[in-house]
Parts: sequence; C-alpha cells; structure tokens
Amino acid sequence: MGEATSLGGSAAVDLEEFRLRRFVENLPEEELDERTENTDLANLPLIIDGNPRAVLFRSAGPDAQEVVASVCASRSRLARAFGVTPAGLFNEVQRRLRNQPQILEVPRAQAPCQQVVLQGADADLTRLPVHLQHGLDGAPYISSAIDYVLDPKSGLTNVGIRRLMLRGPREAGADLVAPSDLKAIYEASSRAGERLPVSFVVGAHPVDYVAAMMRLPVDELGVVAALRDKPLGVVKCVTNDIRVPADAEMVLEGYLDERGHVEPEGPYGEFLGYYGALKRNPVFHLTAITCRKDALFQTMSISGPALGRTDTAQLAALRAELTVWRALETAVREPVAVYAAASSGGLLNIRIAIRQRVPGEARNAIAATLGSLANAKHVFVVDPDIDITNDEQMDWALATRFQADRDLLIMEGLRAMPLDPSLNGSHNGAKAGFDCTWPFGSQDRLDISVPQAPRFDGKRFASIEEALKAGPKYFEELMAAIASRDGREVVRELDRLRSTSTLTRDQQGRYVLGAAS
Ligand SMILES: Cc1cc2nc3c(=O)[nH]c(=O)nc-3n(C[C@H](O)[C@H](O)[C@H](O)COP(=O)(O)O)c2cc1C
Repeated sequence: MGEATSLGGSAAVDLEEFRLRRFVENLPEEELDERTENTDLANLPLIIDGNPRAVLFRSAGPDAQEVVASVCASRSRLARAFGVTPAGLFNEVQRRLRNQPQILEVPRAQAPCQQVVLQGADADLTRLPVHLQHGLDGAPYISSAIDYVLDPKSGLTNVGIRRLMLRGPREAGADLVAPSDLKAIYEASSRAGERLPVSFVVGAHPVDYVAAMMRLPVDELGVVAALRDKPLGVVKCVTNDIRVPADAEMVLEGYLDERGHVEPEGPYGEFLGYYGALKRNPVFHLTAITCRKDALFQTMSISGPALGRTDTAQLAALRAELTVWRALETAVREPVAVYAAASSGGLLNIRIAIRQRVPGEARNAIAATLGSLANAKHVFVVDPDIDITNDEQMDWALATRFQADRDLLIMEGLRAMPLDPSLNGSHNGAKAGFDCTWPFGSQDRLDISVPQAPRFDGKRFASIEEALKAGPKYFEELMAAIASRDGREVVRELDRLRSTSTLTRDQQGRYVLGAAS
C-alpha cells in the first residue's frame, strides 16, 4: 500500500487543501472560539477545558504565538473535516478506508513544512508554545504529535499519536507505555541497542489524526492518503529518511534513544478522565524543527471532567466504532448502527442497534464486541427504533426494555484497560452486556407500542357505524373513517351506539360493534 512516486515538480498535489490553518480559519463561529487578546500559556487550559468549540489563540504567551486547541474534540468538527454531516461520518470513513492510496514525493524546496529549518541550538522545544495541561502533570507536554516511524523490520511507515513531555530544549519523554505498534517497533530497536529515528508532525488536518488512530498492518502513510481521499504529498525529512506529509504545520525530527523505558515521566492527565501513575518512558532527542513560515501550533485536549469534549475521546470513539462494526458484520445478520459514547472516553461504553433476525443475536453482538475490543467494558444493544447517539433514548431503553435478571450478561476476568480506576490496579476486570432489545417476536404487543401523535390515516366510511361494521377500530381510525378534525362528534356517536347496540372493546382497546340489543 502506498508506493511513493515522484511529483516531478508539477502541482499534482494541493499542499494547501489539507492545511490545518485553512481548516481552522474556515470553521464557522459556532465551531470556533477565536481569542485575539494575549493569553498566558498558564491560562490556556482554563479556556480550553470543557469548551464545546475549538479555540484559536491569536496571541499566546510572551512571543504572541498562535495556538489552536481541540480541533478534533467534537463529532461535528470531525464530520466537517470529511465533508459530511455527523450522521454520515461513519460511512464516509468506511468508504475512504477502501480507497487505493496515492502518494506523491514533493521536492524539499516545494514542501511547505520545510520552509523554515532549525537545527543545532536553534531547534529548541522550549520556544514552542507548550502549556501545562493539568494541575498534576509532570511538565508541559506536546499533545498533538503524530509520529512517523520506519519499521526497520518491515520497511513500512507506522503512524500514531504520542505525547511528548518536555525535559529540556532538545529532549522530551515519549509516552510509550500503552500497547501499540510503535511500542513494539521501539522495543525491538532498543533490544538491538539501536536508536529509532522518528519524526513528529505537530499541527495537521483532522483527517490525518483519524488516520493516525488506525492500527493496521499496512504502510500507514497509505492510510493517511486513503482517508484524505486525495493524493498525499510527502517529503523526506532533513535529518532522517522518514517521509511526512509535506503540508504539515511543523515537524519535530529526531530519534528515540536505545536505552528503553528508563526515565521517570508523568503523571499525565489520562484519557479516561483521571491521572495516570508516574511511568518510565524512552527519551526523544530532537535533531531538527522544520515548519511553515506561519506555522500554527496545535494542542489537543486529553482529560478532565468534560471527557466527551476532548480530542482523545472523540478520536477514540470513531476508531472503536470502526473496530466493533467489523466484528458485528460477521457476528449478527443485520447490524444497524454502532456508537461509542465519548463521555466514556470513546471506548468503555459501546452502544449498538441491531435488527434481530434470530433469537439471541443481541447476546452475540455483546460477545463479538467484547471480543473485538479489549477496551470495551459495557455494551448496550437496542432495537433499531432507538437513536443510539441520543442519551435520552438510550436511558429510556435501559429503563423500560431491560430486566437485570434476564438481560444482563456478565463476563469476569477479561483483559481490561488498566487506566480504569475502578479496577484498583488489576489488569483484568468484569465486562457487562445490557440486552435492551424486546423479546424476539413481541413487536405486535400494544404494551410495547410507542405512542405517537395521531395521524388519522386510514379508510373512509359513510358513518361510524359503517366503519365499525367493517371491523374493530381505534378511536384515531374512527376519526379518520369520517374525516373528523375534531373527535367530539365521534364520542357522541359512540355514546349513541352504546345505548342502541352492543358496543364493546377488544383486548387491544379497539371499539367493536356487536349485535343490536
Ligand atoms: C490526542 C491523543 C494523544 C495520544 N497520546 C498517546 C500517548 O501518549 N501514548 C500512546 O501510547 N498512545 C497515545 N494515543 C493513542 C495512540 O496514538 C493510538 O492508539 C494509535 O493508534 C497507536 O498507533 P500504533 O499502534 O500504530 O503505534 C493518543 C491518542 C490521541 C488521540
């Protein structure tokens, strides 16, 4: 996937279309909170945390640098990045993942991300507008860094997102504790006593962040290109052989040293909304900073009580949905929708709608989900009439369609996400499935029919009596039968029929006309 071919100096690839600044500056007011006053770096989180909008600081810190925050922290902005509505996002990502990627090599002189090249003492991480995100974080960290690494074994490019906690002008800890492809690649290099060259893109289009979250056994530069739905222009870095998107805002080039997980680092505010423990991480050494002349620095929201409004939760949710959907496609006959609630970090609580074709399929969906995604903890399955993106509808379904002794499926001792504080440090935990579907085949029951405003559809008759002679009717059907726009005359007619005929009600509450008394 993703053979690089030469651009040959032509303008076959648009190096502005997927520029972060362009995306941000085109956001409408309801999506962008623009601040023109100078803001201390220390104050950025107070404005960013819980803000439903992306925030563009035109003047942050003493050097009046531009910083943008929380660009990917809502489903609506992610959808906008893909040119679709939130409801259409999932299908659009699925469609693009099937694309044949096109990657074009951009000569250095034409690569916007290398308009400025800083090396030696000029390359200084502490001159970037990196702010302290949470009160107990170990130090300020770069939260928006997309890592590009060449796997020495396979030659493929691995792409992910990793936080870089500053240690000095040219050193940062790279948070590499969670299981990931990069962790495996790095640990193999470390065992062989070798440094691992890496380039971090800081400031990229939301589509690139969605791509970076994928864990696929392919050259992941191709995933970036496929998800863009356009050719991807790449450029070779200045101090290593890695290729990165040429239209990035900024690139931090360097290497992870061979010493392994040696340096104490953290704590970090983590993506389940709590702090993680102090950890040991490898050290990133900076060899160059390259950037656009007017590079826009990007920061991402990670943790805190408004978890659903963080970049991490929103990006994790989309990835979880794609993973679960693949499993559902083989596990049940008719999956309808999947939704990972961002308020649960985008991973722990998964909602699924299916149209059950066979009894028991809701339980199959639960088992498939928990089997496909180690992080998933609670799975809620509903019938297709429930809008699974709507918290109120989900609460209603759980309250009215679920019996704990009949519909709760609990599995114990499964691999869990250690950052979940309710595990008290264990790596294994309990998972639960909530089958909120109706018992199979019960769709015709009145007591589970959902009241709707009357629509007065149905056949017309000369009179109420004629209508009832044709068969049992609900009151709404009787109004429709005589085209009533009032209903009180129907009450009077039923009263008359009650005194002259045997007017009764059937089990469903419909009016039934018997023989005249
Ligand atoms: C904003 C953000 C920050 C992240 N930070 C880290 C991190 O510091 N360490 C980590 O291991 N994963 C982090 N992740 C998750 C990984 O980037 C993600 O799991 C990715 O798919 C891993 O890619 P890989 O398995 O191809 O290496 C972060 C995700 C987001 C959205």
